[in-house]
Parts: sequence; structure tokens; C-alpha cells
Amino acid sequence: MTGPDAGFAAFDPGTLPSPCYVIDLAKLEDNLRVLKRLGDAADVKILLALKAFSCFAVADLIGSYLDGTAASGLWEARLGRERFRGEVHTFAAGLKSQDLAGLQSYSDHLIFNSLSQWQRSLPQLDLAGDCQFGIRVNPRHSEVATPLYDPCAPWSRLGVPPDGFAGAGIEGLSGIHVHALCDQGFEPFDRLLSATEEAFGWMFGQIKWINLGGGQLLTGPDYPIDRLVTRLVDYRQRTGLNVYLEPGTAVALDAGALVTEVLDTGWNDGHFAIVDCSATCHMPDVIEAPFTPEVLGAEIVESAGPDDAGDADIVRLGGPTCLAGDVIGTYRFATPPQVGDRLVILDQAYYTMVKASTFNGTPLPGIALWDPRVNEVTIVREFDYETFESRLS
Ligand SMILES: Cc1ncc(COP(=O)(O)O)c(C=O)c1O
Repeated sequence: MTGPDAGFAAFDPGTLPSPCYVIDLAKLEDNLRVLKRLGDAADVKILLALKAFSCFAVADLIGSYLDGTAASGLWEARLGRERFRGEVHTFAAGLKSQDLAGLQSYSDHLIFNSLSQWQRSLPQLDLAGDCQFGIRVNPRHSEVATPLYDPCAPWSRLGVPPDGFAGAGIEGLSGIHVHALCDQGFEPFDRLLSATEEAFGWMFGQIKWINLGGGQLLTGPDYPIDRLVTRLVDYRQRTGLNVYLEPGTAVALDAGALVTEVLDTGWNDGHFAIVDCSATCHMPDVIEAPFTPEVLGAEIVESAGPDDAGDADIVRLGGPTCLAGDVIGTYRFATPPQVGDRLVILDQAYYTMVKASTFNGTPLPGIALWDPRVNEVTIVREFDYETFESRLS
């Protein structure tokens, strides 16, 4: 058996508390081996995008294959520096000036999203220090069909477009960053690389490195790693740039599951089961993307209709919350789930565990009370870095 079912078919979900994320160490290491081979053969550095997967219980394993981490802000940069190994490269679409000192101290590369933010930050930056500075560029080259995941969609806030540099110098910047793919193969990357060179090649003599982001299913079964190696070797030799890739999904692809227990079953126009995990709380991409995750031993039913209403094998799974749309998916089971059964929801390591804590390490809002009658404010709670970190492993 291959694909997401391969590892967990032999796993006993009864050994875990429920609900519980579980990481398949063998599959994770297989993915890491592929990435290491790519990095070595192409002589490029490969960073784990913490925004996708930041469970630091496996930081040592990851650190023995990859060159470091890519962070999305102060808290992920600190996590990368303190919990993971190697370099830390940080990009965020918006930065707070009070975070700049910390961002520089935790990061090897700090990448700005706009020239205005870079210029505003200059007085606070140590240009002679160890941290190098870069800028995210937007080649206005779309490869992603869904606007939710397309950084190059019209009116995008991500990266400086080609005409955004008109008249502006790039002194002090040692590199550029581009990220514009989502779960894609080699051809879209190849086209993005060409589009980026066409739009921003004029900078190549002035910068030292380029970070080519993530968004490629590098560890998927059909990815032509050798073609990518050839393209990157040629690119590096021609441009003289040091190249970084920062995959997230590819690191943890098919290497994690969410174990859940059936709490109740019922019928209302069709069979349903309520489980103790929730799409909205624990797998928000199921609703946001949207997509239906695979469940071990079950087949996804794309469009169940009235004809399926009496079929006891076709069951809609949903969470225990009050949200009507807290639906995980509709499945055909070999044996319909019973109360107390454990189910294994597959491929839940990346963009799932991180979203069930604080995505990108974005600090949680504090909580305050305001009495307008006397204009009195009481700050009840503020959430700190430790709260964020404690939920990741
Ligand atoms: C800037 C940046 N780098 C890297 C990644 C990782 O992408 P993926 O997990 O698809 O490989 C993302 C994902 O959104 C990103 O925004």
C-alpha cells in the first residue's frame, strides 16, 4: 500500500488519548531524506517553514536533515532559534517596530514585505550585525487557481511588484524572497522562476541570495526531483546567487494523523456520526480551503444524495461543536462506525496542528473589560510567547 494510508494502516489508535495528533516518524524521515538529497545535489539550503509544521518534539530529527527554519514573525523566529537547529529566516507581511530588535536577534535573514516598512525600520536595524535583510517581491505571475492561496492574485498585499521599485534603490538589502505556489509540481515552479528573473533579474548583480519560498510537493510520489536539481544548479551557476527553499507541506506530507473517537451516531436525511474532534477547532482548513480529509478504511463520498439516505455505510462525520458547518466529510465505510470506535483522519500534520494553536505564531488578542459609564479599562489577560510554545509539543 502507498500514499497516506500506508503507515497508519498498521497503527492501533486505541493506544492514544482522543482526540490526538500522531506523527509518523518513519514517513517524516523519508520526506526529510528526499529534501536532503535535493539540497545536497543542487547545493541549495532547505528550511522548514514553521508556519506549516512546528512540532518541536521532532526538531532534532528535522535538524539532522535540513538547514534551518523559516519563520513568520517574532514568536516563530524565537521558536526556530531556541527549539530548532540551523539558520532562521523570517518574513512577515507586517512587523511591529517594538519587535524589530527581537526579530534581528533571532533571525539570520529578516525579510520585509514592502519598501516603506523596510525604510521606516532602517533607524532601528543594525546593518553591520549578523542579520541580513531582504525584501519580498511579487512577480505578478499567478500559478494558483484559488485566490485564497495565490500571493500573486490582483490587489495582493504580499511582496513588492516589479513597478514598486521605480526609482527606489536596494542598498542595504542582500536578498529577495518570492513565494507564489501552493501544493504544486515542477512546471509551475519553473515558470515562476523565469517570471521572477524577468521581473527582478536587474537586481541579481547587487544581491547575494534568493529565497524561492515553498508551495511545491517536493516529497510527493510524482515530483521530478532530478529536473529540479538540474534547473537549480544551472540557475545558481548563471546568477551566482545562494538559493534557499522553504517547504512546509513537503516536510510533513502524509506524516501525521488525527485520532478521534465516535461519540454518537444518528440519522437525519442520512446517517451521521459525531466525533470528539472538530473541523472548526482542529482542522480549520477543512472548512477554509475547503477539502475533505481522508479517513483510514473509508472512501470519501463527494456528493451524497437522497438515494444514499438509507445506506448505513455512508456516514457524514461532524464535530461536537454547535456550528452547523462543523462537518469533516461524508464517507463510505466498510463497517459503519459505532459509538466508542476510534477513527484515524489522515494527513493532518501540516497546517493542522499549527492552526489549532496560533497560526504563524500570531499572538492571541488579549482580553480586557471596559466600563463606558466610568471609562475604566481592566486588562484581564495577555498571552505571551510561552502560551504559544506550550501548545506545539
Ligand atoms: C512565505 C512562505 N514560505 C513558505 C511557505 C510554505 O509553503 P508550503 O507549506 O506550501 O510548502 C508558505 C506558505 O504559505 C509561505 O507563505
